[in-house]
Amino acid sequence: MKVFITRRIPDIAFDMLGKEGVEVIFNNEDRVLSSDEIIEGAKGCDALITLLSDTIDKKIIDTFEKVRIISNYAVGYNNIDIEHCRKKNIIVCNTPDVLTHATADLGFSLLLAVARKIPESDSFVREGLFKGWAPRLLRGHDVYSKTLGVIGAGRIGGEVLRRGIGFNMKLLYNTRSKKEQLEKELGACFASKEEIAKRSDFIVLCTPLNDDTFHMIDKSFILNMKKDAILINIARGQVVDEKVLIEALEDKKIAGAGLDVYENEPQVPERLKRLKNVVLLPHTGSSTFKARDDMAVLCVNSILDILKRGKMPQNRIC
Ligand code: DGY
Repeated sequence: MKVFITRRIPDIAFDMLGKEGVEVIFNNEDRVLSSDEIIEGAKGCDALITLLSDTIDKKIIDTFEKVRIISNYAVGYNNIDIEHCRKKNIIVCNTPDVLTHATADLGFSLLLAVARKIPESDSFVREGLFKGWAPRLLRGHDVYSKTLGVIGAGRIGGEVLRRGIGFNMKLLYNTRSKKEQLEKELGACFASKEEIAKRSDFIVLCTPLNDDTFHMIDKSFILNMKKDAILINIARGQVVDEKVLIEALEDKKIAGAGLDVYENEPQVPERLKRLKNVVLLPHTGSSTFKARDDMAVLCVNSILDILKRGKMPQNRIC
């Protein structure tokens, strides 16, 4: 049995596969592989561990000779042509649950960081500009008792809402269908996207990327937002029309944004970098030691379920 891993993931994955006598080939360079390199690496392999930065399209899938399962080291799987995998009987798995709290924590940290200008204040001190307490120094936005709107209230979105309770926030959410549990347990209220735009002080995007959510945050959504509202994106960059967002931030149509993801990742527009009302992170939503280890274990277990244990993995997408 042979597995190809497109980039070095935590060691625990290698230990687990080694113990099961599975041969592992992996990309030891700290960079994203090209399509041709993925095709080359996958030759003769039974399984693949891929990353959200690998585009596994029809062209690549059609070259697979033996691949039975692709285990994506991410909860999102928009990087894989799922329909084509289905046609070719290739199983695709992801890593839900194990990164939920890490990602929700990061979403809430971004919200606080933008609201209270944490990175700007940190730079201010480091640059020697702090000359003493001042009444108008680096004033930010209140979070306590404000309205939090979450779009995409799945596992991660639900946990972002839960964190809002600690700040006594009014909770709004939008998903494809109402979630009784969020309403009963957290007192969250279902709202249309338009209502969320109009009523929220903080909007956190947690939705998966698909045809319905591509550029969901467009000009009309942003124009509906309050002037002092803050947009946080921990979902996928393409959910937001980045050009429109930049214009809105430059023109102060909204108060700020916290972004962990970008439309053309890893490229981050210079205009975005120049803005002070924005906090930018390098797609580190799930990046805690524990979450990244647990993701590795889950990826490997899905592969072992198929190759060694003769059972279907729980976290199967197709
Ligand atoms: C994922 O796993 O899809 C998230 O983007 C991680 O940050």
